[in-house]
Amino acid sequence: MITSHLPIEVRSFVESARREGKSVGFVPTMGALHAGHRTLMERAGEECDLVVASIFVNPMQFDNQEDLDSYPSTLDSDLRTCREAGVALVYAPNASTMYPAGFDSRVVVGRIGSILEGRSRAGHYDGVATVVTKLFNIVVPDVAYFGQKDFQQTLVVNRIVTDLDLPTVIRVVPTVRESDGLALSSRNVRLDPTARQRAVAIPRALTEVAGMFGRGEREASKLEARASEIMVEAGLSVDYVSVAHSGDLRPTPIAAVGDVILIAAIVDEVRLIDNAILGR
Ligand code: PAJ
Repeated sequence: MITSHLPIEVRSFVESARREGKSVGFVPTMGALHAGHRTLMERAGEECDLVVASIFVNPMQFDNQEDLDSYPSTLDSDLRTCREAGVALVYAPNASTMYPAGFDSRVVVGRIGSILEGRSRAGHYDGVATVVTKLFNIVVPDVAYFGQKDFQQTLVVNRIVTDLDLPTVIRVVPTVRESDGLALSSRNVRLDPTARQRAVAIPRALTEVAGMFGRGEREASKLEARASEIMVEAGLSVDYVSVAHSGDLRPTPIAAVGDVILIAAIVDEVRLIDNAILGR
């Protein structure tokens, strides 16, 4: 496995693989890798000849300096994870390579980037869209892999791929969870044992709503209210609960199969998100 922090090296490595007729799968990450990331890499390995991953904690997508400062950094074990998952090349640039002095451009995503997560975290999706565009321009993957865990992010990425004519197919991989249902997240290490226990109210709320939907409840406001209630009872601070169309995240007053329920909640200052597709 090769590790590089130079765009030009990554470009020429990928180009020579492509000349040999190999397909290129790409998994962008911010490191602190866990089994969710590993699943994306393994899936890329099953479907593509060459797997490229990136590790870069992207300052542009953090709206909060403390969140950025406390983001875990575990490069050595991340590189081991990549190697074990069959990654051939890791692009791990530093901030000054990604954003050299004078850098002054942004990829700005419209409506889908400004609601829900985008409303709570101003500029977040412009940061994501900008770095993903840069990474895609360096790697030019045939297929790029993203987790359903960050549902809105997958829609933002699909938007820029369509709008900016990027030649990459986006694959969404189901959320990997702990045995008690909590979605794996690099932020989970910041939960103390009590907070970790309370955080399970998030997947519990999703399961409860799925059950209500399965029993015929279709009123989005009732599904949302029940999810909120479960989380508030567990001492979580709910940022949003939204039942929405899975294609564009517009709210659906009457829920239907294939709609998504999205949750953001704060447990002891740690902001967690999760979601579930209804009726699946
Ligand atoms: P990061 O949070 O490191 O996540 C990298 C990828 O792993 C994302 O596509 C995310 O959805 C996926 N992922 C995270 N937790 C997962 C889980 N429990 N199950 C399945 N997939 C999971 O998302 C980012 O980084 C950044 O915004 C990035 C796209 C790299 C741009 O900076």
